[in-house]
Amino acid sequence: MIIESTNYKSSDKLENILIIGNGGRENALAWAIQKNELIKRIYLLPGNAGSKKINKSERLSLNLNNIKELIKKLKYLKIDLVVIGPETPLAEGLGEILRENNFDVFGPGSDGAKLESSKSWAKEFMKEAKIPTANFWKVKSLEEAKEIIFSSPNPLVVKADGLASGKGVFIPKTKKESLKATEEIIKGKFGNAGEIVVLEEKIEGPEVSVFALCDGRNYVLLPTAQDHKRLNENDEGPNTGGMGAYSPTPLITKPMLKRIKKEIIDPTIDALVRKNINYRGVLYFGLMITKSGPKVIEYNCRFGDPECQTIMPLMDKNFVFLLQKCALGKLIGNETIEMSDRSSGCVIATSKGYPLNYEIGFPINYGNIDFRDCQIFDSGTSLNSKGQLITDGGRVLSIVCQGKDFDTVFEKAYKNLKEISFEGIFYRKDIGHQVRKKP
Ligand code: AMP
Ligand code: GLY
Repeated sequence: MIIESTNYKSSDKLENILIIGNGGRENALAWAIQKNELIKRIYLLPGNAGSKKINKSERLSLNLNNIKELIKKLKYLKIDLVVIGPETPLAEGLGEILRENNFDVFGPGSDGAKLESSKSWAKEFMKEAKIPTANFWKVKSLEEAKEIIFSSPNPLVVKADGLASGKGVFIPKTKKESLKATEEIIKGKFGNAGEIVVLEEKIEGPEVSVFALCDGRNYVLLPTAQDHKRLNENDEGPNTGGMGAYSPTPLITKPMLKRIKKEIIDPTIDALVRKNINYRGVLYFGLMITKSGPKVIEYNCRFGDPECQTIMPLMDKNFVFLLQKCALGKLIGNETIEMSDRSSGCVIATSKGYPLNYEIGFPINYGNIDFRDCQIFDSGTSLNSKGQLITDGGRVLSIVCQGKDFDTVFEKAYKNLKEISFEGIFYRKDIGHQVRKKP
């Protein structure tokens, strides 16, 4: 069974779609969108080597900073809907620029993207709207930081305020380490992103990802997911962009979801409306389920990667209508995505050395892959001059499978992974350990 969203038929033209971004997330979005027979062409800007697996697709090579050329080309291509994948163009205001030029865009403007692009802004936003989150202090100098760090009972979490590709968060074990991390950020480790430092009380509990497709007023929730941020098995090692994920997560029971909506999602949307922020895109709630209830760890203004790759196969062909409705501000509020009885899981294959230094350019070889209920989305790949598929990033491939339970899902994913090879291939063997009965 697949998630049905057939009551969301579109009466607005929807033939030519543009997806901005080059990762596994955008590859999975394109794959889900292509299922709809109304779609005539999917343009990927810039996409990656995996784009060729998308029916009716074409890669574009345009400079996002050359707005005049971009607009001219998109008008020529008669783009009906633009989906912006990554946070950087969103934070830089591509959403509003395209909207000002009469394009329908799935992705917030820079005002809404501030929920991700400024952690201190997001924390103030939550404080004002009484949304549960860890206590925090905003500092600009080492002296200020020192006083707060050494008068707190426990070592504080340290975060660079701005975008730092997921690398700007430190979880120190001692107060001295908190201070050292603060000093490094203030001294410019992340450039402008570190002009403000957020110090946070450390909270504990499992983390879950919740995605709301928003149209500025109404929203519809996607199936929940759990990501694996740490590099190594047993959730050890450095933080990464994400080494794997599964969906839905049993941690979010119906009563828990009701609570999350009441205490977190609804107050967030209401606060955006009060601030006149017309948020049209996906709002990603990174939550921690603590002993005292769910708390927001972070907001993101985009789909999670690899959560997106994991969730997209659970969507039916009408998923693209939801994106369009959000872009047009036309969700009615009665749209629900019925949870199917299927589960989905994703394992990421990375280059050796990720998330630090890694080499690229190694040929990728596929053996006998069983594609039944399995997809391979390309995260960081390209073609060399001989047309050979090669590694071109830290995260290289997303292997995604679906099944009646998580044991079936991950058995299939790991069987297929054994058929994939490239020099230095690395992946965690325990993705989904929380929900697998078999090791
Ligand atoms: P962020 O980029 O804000 O999501 O932080 C990256 C990771 O750091 C999160 O997924 C958490 O595992 C961890 N983290 C962030 N803030 C806190 C906090 N206040 N307490 C405990 N862990 C945190
Ligand atoms: N998977 C976590 C993220 O996309 O930020």
